[in-house]
Amino acid sequence: MRMVDLIAKKRDGLELTEEEISFIINGYTDGSIPDYQVSAFTMAVFFQGMTEKECADLTMAMVNSGDVIDLSEIEGIKVDKHSTGGVGDTTTLVLGPLVAALGVPVAKMSGRGLGHTGGTIDKLESVKGFYVELDNKEFIQLVNKNKIAVIGQSGNLTPADKKLYALRDVTASVNSMPLIASSIMSKKIAAGADCICLDVKTGAGAFMKTLEGSRELAEEMVRIGNNVGRKTMAVISDMSQPLGFAIGNALEVKEAIDTLKGNGPKDLTELCLTLGSQMVFLAEKAESIEEARTKLEEVIANGKALESFKLFLRSQGGDDSVVDQPDKLPQSKFVYELPAKEAGFVAEITADSIGTAAMILGAGRATKDSEIDLAVGLILRKKIGDQVEKGESLVTIYSNTEKIEEVKEMLYNHINISKNHVEAPVLIHEIITK
Ligand code: URA
Ligand code: CA
Repeated sequence: MRMVDLIAKKRDGLELTEEEISFIINGYTDGSIPDYQVSAFTMAVFFQGMTEKECADLTMAMVNSGDVIDLSEIEGIKVDKHSTGGVGDTTTLVLGPLVAALGVPVAKMSGRGLGHTGGTIDKLESVKGFYVELDNKEFIQLVNKNKIAVIGQSGNLTPADKKLYALRDVTASVNSMPLIASSIMSKKIAAGADCICLDVKTGAGAFMKTLEGSRELAEEMVRIGNNVGRKTMAVISDMSQPLGFAIGNALEVKEAIDTLKGNGPKDLTELCLTLGSQMVFLAEKAESIEEARTKLEEVIANGKALESFKLFLRSQGGDDSVVDQPDKLPQSKFVYELPAKEAGFVAEITADSIGTAAMILGAGRATKDSEIDLAVGLILRKKIGDQVEKGESLVTIYSNTEKIEEVKEMLYNHINISKNHVEAPVLIHEIITK
C-alpha cells in the first residue's frame, strides 16, 4: 500500500477500506508516514467528508493506536459522560455522586483545565487532601466499593489522535465534522466505558456556535459510538452563557454541593437531571427515563446523593467536612461587586470571555504550566433574561489581588444590558439517541 494512492483515493471522493485507514493511522503513529502526506490526507477529508463506515474505522484505528483501559473488573454497566467543553460547567462534580447514589458505576478519568475551561481534577483538588494519583487496581476497587472514583489521565491513550489533532491545528483542518467526531469518540472509547452520554454544547461559549453545527456533530458522534458497539446518546445544551452561577474551582465545588443538596442553580440542576436520567437508564438502573429522573430527585431529597459525594471525597483523601462547612474551602482575600451601569434586562453574558476573565484572576491556566489559584473566580448574580437595576451587582469577583481593572473591563464588555425585555435562552435544545 502506498500513502500517495490513498490520498488520491480520498481526494477523488472514493471510500477507503478499514485496512487502508489502519495503514494510514498506524503509519502516522509509528512515524513511517510523514506529516506532509497526512496533512494532504486530512485536507482531502475536509473537502470530501467520510462515510459512516470510514468514520467508525478511523475511530477504532485511533483507539487501537495506544492503550485501551480495561474496566471489565468493574461490576455493572459503565456509563461515561463527556462534555464538549464549556465555562463554569460544574456538571461532572454533581453527576458523578448523583448517579453513583443509584448504583451506576462511575469510573472517571479526568483532566486538568486549559484556557477558559476548567478541569474536573483542578476543581476537586480544592478539597484539602484530595488526590487522583491512584493505581489502576485501587481505582477499580474503589469503583466497585463506592460506585465512584476519579483518576488522573495516565497511560498512552490514543497517541494517533494527539498527533493528528496537533497537525490539523496548524493545517486548517480542525473544523471537519468526521475528524472532530472521531477524535472525541476515540478518546472516550479508549477510556473503556460501555455507554457514552455526550453533552454537546452550543452557543457563543461552545466549540460549535450554531445549533445546526452542534446537531451535526452530535449525530456523527452518536452514529460512531453505536456503530462500534457502545450505546451512545447526546444532549445538545446551551453554552451561550456560563452554566450555573459559579466559575472557578472552589466556587464550583460549593455550587456542586448546593446542587446535590437540592439548592443549586436552576439550569445546572436541570442539565444534571437530564443527563443523569439518560445515564441511569443506559446503565439499566431504571425502566424508563421518567423513572430514572424520579429516582434522581429522590436521592437529592433524601440526602443519599450528598452522602455519596462525602464518601467519594473521603475515599480519595479529601476532607469531607467541607460538604457541611463549605467555608473550609479555599477563600480569596478580596471580594468585589460589579455594579450595573444602567438598568434593563441582561441580554448577553458571553461565556468564553467570562471564562477568560476568571482565568485572568487565576482560576484557569493561560499555558499548560501555569499555577492556578483555587480560591478565585466569579459568581454571576444575573443571568440572561434577568431584570437589573442601575447599581445592582452583576457579578461578585473573588480575587487574591486588588488589581482587577482588566477583569472588570472584560466583564463589562461582555455582559450586555438591553432596555427591552429579553427571553432566557433554551437550556436543552435536543436529545439525540439514534
Ligand atoms: N476536541 C477534540 O478532542 N478533538 C477535535 O478534533 C476537536 C475538539
Ligand atoms: Ca457553574
